[in-house]
Order: sequence, then C-alpha cells, then structure tokens
Amino acid sequence: MKPVMLSAVQPTNKLTLGTYLGALKNWAKLQHQYDCLFFAVDLHAITARQDPKVLRENTYRAIATYLASGIDPDHCTLFVQSHVPQHAQLSWILTCYSYMGELSRMTQFKDKSSKQGQNIPTGLFTYPVLMASDILLYRTKLVPVGEDQKQHIELTRDIAGRFNNLYGEDIFTMPEPYIAPIGARIMSLQNPASKMSKSDPDLNGTLFLDDSDDLILKKVKRAVTDSGSEIVLADDKPGVKNLLTIQSAITGKSIQDIVATYVGKQYGHLKVDTAEICVQAIKPIREETERLMGDLTHLNGILKRGAESARERAQKTVALVEERLGFIPG
Ligand code: TRP
Repeated sequence: MKPVMLSAVQPTNKLTLGTYLGALKNWAKLQHQYDCLFFAVDLHAITARQDPKVLRENTYRAIATYLASGIDPDHCTLFVQSHVPQHAQLSWILTCYSYMGELSRMTQFKDKSSKQGQNIPTGLFTYPVLMASDILLYRTKLVPVGEDQKQHIELTRDIAGRFNNLYGEDIFTMPEPYIAPIGARIMSLQNPASKMSKSDPDLNGTLFLDDSDDLILKKVKRAVTDSGSEIVLADDKPGVKNLLTIQSAITGKSIQDIVATYVGKQYGHLKVDTAEICVQAIKPIREETERLMGDLTHLNGILKRGAESARERAQKTVALVEERLGFIPG
C-alpha cells in the first residue's frame, strides 16, 4: 500500500506558472509514487464572494489545467471538493473540536480578515478546519503545500491528536507537510520579493497558464532586474535569481549550469531566453486546457469517477468518527 498524498488548489482565478512549477508539475510525478488525491476546493473558494459564472468556469479550468499538466485520473483520484459532501460533514464535527484561540492565531486568517473590513465571514475563520477535514478524511500521510500553508497542517495535527486522544488512536492519521526536494518558489516578475500570485493586482508580475505567447514574451521582457549587469546568483539580485529559477524549474538544469552559459552576457539575453522557455512550457498546457474546456461532458465524466471513489473512501472515515462519537446508525 502506497502512502496517501493529498493536495488541492482554490479555483478562485486562473492558475499561474508559479502553481505549475511549484505544484502541478511535481504532482504529475508524485502520482506514480503515492496514493494521490488532488482536487479543486470550491467550498474554500466561497469564503470570499464569487460570481457563480466565474466560479463555475474557474473550477472546470482548474481541473482541465491539472489534466493538461500531466495529472492522470488513471493514476490518482481527481475531483471537486463539493462533490464529496463528507468534507463539509467532517468539517462541522471538527469545528466542535477546534478552539477559537488556535483559529485566531492563523496567519492567513489574520491577513485576510484584516483586509475585509466589518463583515468577516465566519467561513474565513473556520477555513482551516475544512482544510483539516480535507486531509483527515483520507488518512493522508503527506501534504504537498507551500510555506504559507504549513501552519494549517500543524493545526490539522493538533485537531487530529486531540480527537484521537478522546476517541481512539486508530481514527486519524497524522499528516505531514511534504516539501518538494526541488521546491521551485517562483516570485512575481514585477516584485521578486513576493510570491507569484494569481491574485496580484499587478497583472504584469504573474504569468497565467492561459497567457498568449505574445503576452508571455511581453511580461518576461518587462520583468524587473537588479542593479549591476552581471548574471550571477546573489541575494542582492532577486530579479535575476527569479528568472534563473524559472529556467531551472522548467528545463531541469541546475542554476549553476545555467549561470555558466551567461558569462559575458547581459540581462537582455537572460530575459529573451527565459521568455522563450516560458512560452515553450506554457503553450502546450494552454492548448490542451482549451481543448479540454471544449468538452465539458468529458470533464464531467472524469469528475464523476473521481468523486465516486473519493466519497467511498471518505465515508469510511465519517462512519467511524460518527460511531465513536455516539451517533446512532441511520
Ligand atoms: N488552503 C490551501 C491553499 O490556499 C488549499 C487547500 C484546501 C488545501 N484544502 C487543502 C491544500 C488540503 C492542501 C490540502 O493553498
């Protein structure tokens, strides 16, 4: 039996090159080593207001992009969170075993709620409990996530430990964050101090996986670089480092090997090459995603199969939890 690995993204926007290089590209490899579950978290997405039409489009698009990135429903369980009602079900139960204090300490909640003004949705506060449920439903061992989500995994462990303590150590498996050995952290092209983000208001900083070739070339050629002119890996050259990291993550070459090809060359060369490499990486994903988006019946079929398998597994956990809690069989 392979260990269970699980991860998800929010379908709140189009996906970025950062998500592809930092997550999807690795998932496509990991699906052969682990028992993987990948899904789009629409229940999490509604912690911020969504336009229904846009949410629907983004959810399909997220799944189509997963598939276009090499995630294969024959080698993993691919689904949409709301198709598996056990996520919401376990989430309510675990809400009763999480504390106001610990949820108030979540950095992501503090960030997001401080930007919300008066009416902070309760869902934003209990968001990490839903995420804990996502993870605990499937006896997950490993969760590939970015640095920003590690605190949520810690919380998941705390809640799991607390519940197991009360009702039996055999109920939940302790998950761990999985940090990829070659974790590519791609930064904004306009502000290399912050992560490339799908919600960055500066659209020139982010490469989306559906950007046209021209737009990719334009954005990368406009990327901010640093003072000086030498192409080296240095802490005071975050812009150069980012372009080198992007090249390395796409081509699989080491940064050192790439730097060696730029001796005596200028930033302009680095930008042109990086732009072309990005086009080569994004173009096939964009084209395949578009093709898949043209056949929703096919996508629905894949999602139906994924949801059936996920529900069956999730229900086993919910049944066990309910039995231990003292709920009578229905
Ligand atoms: N909170 C994660 C994010 O914003 C998305 C997410 C929801 C997730 N449920 C998950 C990630 C379970 C890993 C496992 O990136």
